[in-house]
Amino acid sequence: MSLILRYMRLDDIRPVCAIDELCFRPPWSKDSYAFEINESRISHMVVLESRHEAAPALEAYEDGWLQRVSGWLRQEAPVALATAGTVVGYGGLWKIDGEAHISTIATHPAHRGYGYGELLLAGMFRKALRLRADYLVLEVRVSNAVAQNLYAKYGFSRYGRKRNYYRADNEDAYDMRARLDKQSRWQLDRLYGELRVRIPFRDDFSGVKRPRG
Ligand SMILES: CC(C)(COP(=O)(O)OP(=O)(O)OC[C@H]1O[C@@H](n2cnc3c(N)ncnc32)[C@H](O)[C@@H]1OP(=O)(O)O)[C@@H](O)C(=O)NCCC(=O)NCCS
Repeated sequence: MSLILRYMRLDDIRPVCAIDELCFRPPWSKDSYAFEINESRISHMVVLESRHEAAPALEAYEDGWLQRVSGWLRQEAPVALATAGTVVGYGGLWKIDGEAHISTIATHPAHRGYGYGELLLAGMFRKALRLRADYLVLEVRVSNAVAQNLYAKYGFSRYGRKRNYYRADNEDAYDMRARLDKQSRWQLDRLYGELRVRIPFRDDFSGVKRPRG
């Protein structure tokens, strides 16, 4: 299995929306994602993809039914074998003047607790630094202790409270912010380095220019 952090594409919308529906009320629409990916000039959408390279494992069998199955699979389902990738999480970053705003972040419930949410946040943090933002901002439900822990780990602190921010149930949001200065860059380098050791992954997002839609 290999993990890749990369820009979100139109063909990711379906799996991203499936995760979104499990995580947020209301979820974003497919059209919103298409807009963020293709049209918005301020948006940097990211996915974390997990790839299983199935073909080499099947080739290891010399003879017998498995080889015949493998031959059939290669003929009938070449795409599935070549790109057996699963989107396990996603995020979004808006860059407006000096502000970088994390618009969304989620991991699939079946893939939580493996460091994937942190990987997405670290990738967006690095992207914000690369885009020369002065600070990072986000909103989080006051009841969402898991996400708040993650943000605190990356130097976010509570800046304010937005009353009745979530329309679905009128819950308040904390406005959390992190300054992007020398100290936060140093802290990010340390955390990103530790992540790389803990979870080997390829980063095709944070240092890469946004592809043209
Ligand atoms: C928030 C979310 C993205 C975290 O993703 P994740 O992949 O489960 O988290 P990770 O495994 O990367 O953990 C990173 C950090 O999050 C915090 N965290 C994760 N799981 C936690 C738990 N069960 N309890 C408390 N803190 C937790 C910890 O600070 C952890 O760092 P540590 O491993 O050094 O302790 C994920 O829970 C999610 O998608 N939630 C639903 C959507 C959501 O609430 N998004 C945030 C909107 S503001």
